[in-house]
Amino acid sequence: MTHPPTAANTPQTPAWSEADLAGDPHATPDKAERVQAMFEAIAARYDLNNRVHSFGRDVAWRRRAVTAARLRPEDEVLDVACGTGDLAEAIASATPRPRRVVGVDFTAGMLDIARAKSARRSLRVPIDYRLGDAMALEFADGSFDVLTIAFGLRNVTDPPRAVAEFRRVLRPGGRLVILEFSEPGFAPIRWFNRLYTEGIMPRTAALLARDRSGAYRYLPRSVASFPGVEVVGRWIEDAGFVGLEQTPQTFGVCTIHAAEVPKVGNAIANTADSGATNGTGRP
Ligand SMILES: C[S@@+](CC[C@H](N)C(=O)[O-])C[C@H]1O[C@@H](n2cnc3c(N)ncnc32)[C@H](O)[C@@H]1O
Repeated sequence: MTHPPTAANTPQTPAWSEADLAGDPHATPDKAERVQAMFEAIAARYDLNNRVHSFGRDVAWRRRAVTAARLRPEDEVLDVACGTGDLAEAIASATPRPRRVVGVDFTAGMLDIARAKSARRSLRVPIDYRLGDAMALEFADGSFDVLTIAFGLRNVTDPPRAVAEFRRVLRPGGRLVILEFSEPGFAPIRWFNRLYTEGIMPRTAALLARDRSGAYRYLPRSVASFPGVEVVGRWIEDAGFVGLEQTPQTFGVCTIHAAEVPKVGNAIANTADSGATNGTGRP
């Protein structure tokens, strides 16, 4: 899963140079290698940077994503691009408590932090952390009741393909919750947000993380060049989800996209895809 060393992911070379970020980082052919190298470089200080640069709001955004998941005690939950595990931990500590929580990420260094954190905390549900790719999940069709992804979709190489993969691993009636940065709709707030994320945060975050990977210059560029919430909504509906709700958070600096797999009809599709015979999508 770890990408082989390339010019983009050797420690001496920044994952993103100024020149790389002058264009659209999502169109970079080796985006996955660069994203992985960048998260390896910043893993140790990732949580601290999140807290400081969101003024603690990231904790509230993840808590709201958990509420949007409408957890039930029998739920099996997959948190994709789980990183250092903050959303997976919020899910594992929620009430009602889900039956199973699995976290998947393709950066080993982020998972190392996640595992160390969960070993220190006594979580009500142990989290099963695994190395894996959002676009090719190792799970059978219809394996989960809830799938979450926080600040991860923007980082994958082919987001519509990832969303289709999310649909595949969810059972009929399963819920999808995507938390992702967006651009505030109100122009003065958008202007202020850009000033902060492009002018101030890259410098202070790079200092805090002692980062030379270019991660905190990539962040605002990747948000500004990522398709808007309407397009993300279209990917979700095109993948077969229904009941889409998009809820802006903190003036729209991020958005919670929630939708579900139809309860009827797609049960048949799931059965056909997976060879399951009980029509519930559960193996
Ligand atoms: C901004 S972090 C988000 C981490 C966590 N979800 C959170 O809320 O803090 C993005 C994560 O996405 C992961 N990622 C990016 N592309 C991925 C992919 N194709 N498959 C799995 N993980 C991926 C990165 O390794 C990184 O840990």
